[in-house]
Amino acid sequence: MTTSAATVSTDGVDWQALRGAAVAAAQAAYCPYSHLQVGAAAMVDDGRVITGCNVENASYGLGLCAECTLVGQLRLSGGGRLVALACRSGTGDLLMPCGRCRQVIYEFGGTDLLVDTPAGPQDMTWVLPAAFGPEHLPTPSS
Ligand code: THU
Repeated sequence: MTTSAATVSTDGVDWQALRGAAVAAAQAAYCPYSHLQVGAAAMVDDGRVITGCNVENASYGLGLCAECTLVGQLRLSGGGRLVALACRSGTGDLLMPCGRCRQVIYEFGGTDLLVDTPAGPQDMTWVLPAAFGPEHLPTPSS
């Protein structure tokens, strides 16, 4: 009899599925300048899985990271909060979100968002310590 390993970990996240979705998303990357395909996949608080890929530009600084197109997909597909996120190259290497993208995903996941890291899944207090967030903005006066 063959047994298959359970893929859902104790944190309720199917990390293997998320990593696979990130690698699949990376195949759609537009990266003629860096030649680095990047894919991001995230589980949303309603259980759906969304993805993004990097989209570069001849004006190099205007390129979009995979996490940026992912948050666009988050909003376009119904909104919600990010629960868990994996970022991978097209060949399956684990990639950490760049500094800017750590801030971008923090907006939609806060401190509880889990990110796949070389040290295993870690929350955003590990990924972006002492983060700046919406709570640091003044409340508009009426
Ligand atoms: N890239 C991402 O998509 N996400 C990151 O977090 C790091 C970098 C992309 C941007 C660019 O298209 C390529 O990787 C090389 O920097």
